Amino acid sequence: MAFDGMSCRLGRGISFGNALDAPREGDAGFRLHERYFAEVRDAGFDTVRLPVRWSAHAGGSSPYTISPALFERVDWAIGEALRRDLNIVLNVHHYDELNDAPRGQRPRFLGLWRQIAARYAGWPGRLYFELLNEPRGAMTAGAWNELIPLALAVIRERDPGRAVIVGPARMNDIGALPELELPDDDRLVVTVHYYAPLEFTHQGAPWRAGADQWLGTTWGDDADRRAVSDDLARAASWAAARGRPLFIGEFGCYERAGLAAREQWTRFVRLEAERLGLSWCYWEFGTDFGAFDPARNSWREPLRDALTGDGNPLAG
Ligand code: GLC
Repeated sequence: MAFDGMSCRLGRGISFGNALDAPREGDAGFRLHERYFAEVRDAGFDTVRLPVRWSAHAGGSSPYTISPALFERVDWAIGEALRRDLNIVLNVHHYDELNDAPRGQRPRFLGLWRQIAARYAGWPGRLYFELLNEPRGAMTAGAWNELIPLALAVIRERDPGRAVIVGPARMNDIGALPELELPDDDRLVVTVHYYAPLEFTHQGAPWRAGADQWLGTTWGDDADRRAVSDDLARAASWAAARGRPLFIGEFGCYERAGLAAREQWTRFVRLEAERLGLSWCYWEFGTDFGAFDPARNSWREPLRDALTGDGNPLAG
């Protein structure tokens, strides 16, 4: 399988965000198409990440049956990735009710994973599971540390060899890594999300209160770059000390920062991650952080180059 203990081969990735993680596919103005998998492969990526809002398509009481239509759509997407030799990371995204009520929603969360693990047991090792996107709110480090081994046990009962990705509380923040307790399992990959400084990457983002006041924030002087290098190095050494591969599962810059500035930040983060031997996954393909423009059916070339071009850190 695509995993060999210390290192993981996720390499360079991109998330198909705002598709199956919208309440319904299309609600966020974006739908998956077969040709997007080809675009990703041809641009030189190794991995796609598929965020899925299972909680909007599953029963509210035991056995929390997941809708067959959603499963069929996910089967299709996984198949499109696998037949192009892309890795695919399947997660649980936007399960807001779980973050609000970790204990109350626990049986349902485990019920979702029971079904997902049973369905994909025996599928190729290029398929990775990611337990939960950005635990937050009442899903504190303590609550999350309680839940991780339970979810892993549900998966392991059905799919013992699957690579499973898990990140820290506080929205997978690097600063929360020291509180993350990892079960003894040699198929775990650690993930963190990187959007620092938020005032730059999320300027004008409508879902961040006050983000309009950040419009015009620039990035790129020596201190800015040093901060990124230090953050990523801290995360890399935390993972290395525990013998775990580290995956920067999301990083990216919202469209309002402007293309040139986004290119500069994206290139620097990507090259720093690669210098440290980390795999990564850009957020995201085709909407408001999009490296690809579905309306023009083409890549935003500066972002495509920042992600998979020959990197010159000094040019970035
Ligand atoms: C997280 C959120 C997603 C958001 C992204 C950038 O993945 O789930 O909705 O667009 O971060 O803020």
